Amino acid sequence: MVAVLGGTGRTGRPLVAELLRRRHKVVVLARDPAKLGMVRDEVQVITGDSRDEAALTELVSGTDAVVSTLGPVRGQGLINQDAAKALIFVMRRAGVRRYVGVTGAGIDVPGDQKAIFDKVLSNLIQFVSRKAAMDRTAEYQEWVDSDLEWTLVRAPRLRDGPPTHAVEPDAHRSAPSPFLRRSDLAEFLVDVLEQGLYVRQAPLVGAKAVSDGPVPK
Ligand SMILES: NC(=O)c1ccc[n+]([C@@H]2O[C@H](COP(=O)([O-])OP(=O)(O)OC[C@H]3O[C@@H](n4cnc5c(N)ncnc54)[C@H](OP(=O)(O)O)[C@@H]3O)[C@@H](O)[C@H]2O)c1
Repeated sequence: MVAVLGGTGRTGRPLVAELLRRRHKVVVLARDPAKLGMVRDEVQVITGDSRDEAALTELVSGTDAVVSTLGPVRGQGLINQDAAKALIFVMRRAGVRRYVGVTGAGIDVPGDQKAIFDKVLSNLIQFVSRKAAMDRTAEYQEWVDSDLEWTLVRAPRLRDGPPTHAVEPDAHRSAPSPFLRRSDLAEFLVDVLEQGLYVRQAPLVGAKAVSDGPVPK
């Protein structure tokens, strides 16, 4: 059984669909289960907020792993460090050890060999979106300080559209493209989970081709 956070979001919906396609049993924590759409009846749903310890406890109970595409949404402030703290606490208590999540390519981790352009971009993101970048860095640090088997996938600018199945990950080197489709990210997250990839690492990931075609409306 796989627990999902952020399953109502733009990456979360294809993630849940991909987990179901690969025959996983799925439990989703959602504030508004109606947003799950068609898969609503194919998954177990816990209604609640990702910062609520009781809801998280119910979510992770009896699961083998947690996959999260949780991110800040308009009108509620930053959430990722708080959610990570709460989640690590309940996962350790429940004996659930595997976590696969998403963060931004703008955060830096020790050992990085980012291309010059990406180094500049990361510095710019950390300057312009200072608080959001600090929250994501603090989220990363929560996982590093835990004894769990985490992976935080560092995604570049996300786009919608059907999967291209062409994703290039690397633990520390920049991806060839500064873009990635959410459907490809969803597939990659399930690959990471199923194949036990990048444990206690934060791989950079992007589309293989530099041009990802026209941006869908
Ligand atoms: N946008 C980009 O270009 C980009 C680039 C790099 C990395 N990322 C990161 O990639 C991840 C996926 O991005 P996305 O664009 O697919 O995200 P998204 O569509 O904005 O989805 C965010 C999800 O988080 C959920 N959420 C937020 N606060 C919550 C709370 N307090 N309790 C429960 N659920 C909560 C939302 O639930 P509701 O439906 O209830 O609001 C939604 O399911 C995020 O971590 C994002 O920060 C994004």
